[in-house]
Amino acid sequence: MDSFRYKNGRLFAENVSLEKLAQRYGTPLYVYSLNHVLENFRALDRAFKGMDHLICFSMKVNSNIALLAAMAREGSGFDIVSGGELYRLRRAGADMSKVVFAGVGKSESEIREGIQAGIFMFNIESWPEALRIDRIAGSMGKQVKVDFRINPDVDAKTHAYISTGNKENKFGLPIGIADELFKNASRLKNIKVTGIHLHIGSQITQIGPFVQAARKAVGLVRRLRALGHDIQTVNMGGGIGIVYDRESPVSATQFAAALKKVFQGEGIKLLLEPGRYMAGNAGVLVTKVEYVKESRSKDFVIVDAAMNDLIRPMLYGAFHAIAPLRKSSKGRLRKVDVVGPICESGDFFAKDRKMRLPAEGELLAIHSAGAYGFVMASNYNSRGRAAEILVDGSKVIVARKRELYADLVRGESVPAYLRPRKGRR
Ligand code: LLP
Repeated sequence: MDSFRYKNGRLFAENVSLEKLAQRYGTPLYVYSLNHVLENFRALDRAFKGMDHLICFSMKVNSNIALLAAMAREGSGFDIVSGGELYRLRRAGADMSKVVFAGVGKSESEIREGIQAGIFMFNIESWPEALRIDRIAGSMGKQVKVDFRINPDVDAKTHAYISTGNKENKFGLPIGIADELFKNASRLKNIKVTGIHLHIGSQITQIGPFVQAARKAVGLVRRLRALGHDIQTVNMGGGIGIVYDRESPVSATQFAAALKKVFQGEGIKLLLEPGRYMAGNAGVLVTKVEYVKESRSKDFVIVDAAMNDLIRPMLYGAFHAIAPLRKSSKGRLRKVDVVGPICESGDFFAKDRKMRLPAEGELLAIHSAGAYGFVMASNYNSRGRAAEILVDGSKVIVARKRELYADLVRGESVPAYLRPRKGRR
């Protein structure tokens, strides 16, 4: 689905002009297409028809509660990694029985909150964590469902920072110790190990690594069952890649067909935790050109968004397409750097990008910003975080207000004796 399209030379999100939104709500501005996200969810859900499955949106990619509520209404489950994410889901009114809790460092209170909320299951990442969950569940008089995250040692062929399934990573437990692990865990009374979990990385564009990991999962399930363990679920994690530039990622149907083939007849429920696939291309960051700085060696387009709004280019050298909100054929193509106002050389959105030199005040859209965009924003340089707008057809929802100066110092205090005295220096 292409929710961001030019109509009469103006870029729209569904039926709403981005220029109008920028005028009304200011910039930098995150704009999401709700129907784009919902369509992606439906497409993947449909593709797995005929196989017992549950899609748990990985909410770390975009955790705005209006979006979460709409997804929950659509029937989505959720993959969470913190107490804060659990809190957001409650505020969104999500069904807790469709929530899976992952992460290598779950704290005591986060575990307690998860049990109290009645989530579907915990993905355990270490033996000490298994002991901790067992102890806490026991103290609450509960038995909780868990699976073990297994590291299948598969090369996801993606950026090193977002590759998680080879043995060098901190994630999961080595597949080689699974037999022993499940045996030891079967002695813990307050947890019930009913599955395995794998997540090999993010922004994976080829089907090969997924199939490789799935085959390893099936092999493991069969072995564990033969050893007498009651394995009901396989969680294949997230990782489906999207188009940022010229990638050609797998489609929902290809992905589902390949996994169905591997899991056919195995009698398991398949859990998935896609994040980027769902929301990545469903969002843009709208920004205004503050200055155009031309020099002999290089031209800089200085915009009002910065690395504090979208850190992916700086952190991963990630490519994000940048396009004007008003289509124009005027002006020569130039190689420019698109940069933000923050005092860091790494504060850029594009380097040596071939584009028409925009004019001061012109509005641009930074594409594919719906995943790992706003959620990774900070207040660096005391910049308030941008507003988030959710577009649903012709409806405009202010899903999050722009932060004001007062928001920047909320929670901070100055004791009287530290205050500068008037009239003295
Ligand atoms: N499940 C687990 C256990 C994960 O660790 C992740 C992402 C996902 C699911 C969702 O993966 P996805 O479907 O979105 O690929 N900030 C980085 C990406 C970090 C990925 C962290 N884990 C970026 O901006 O590229």
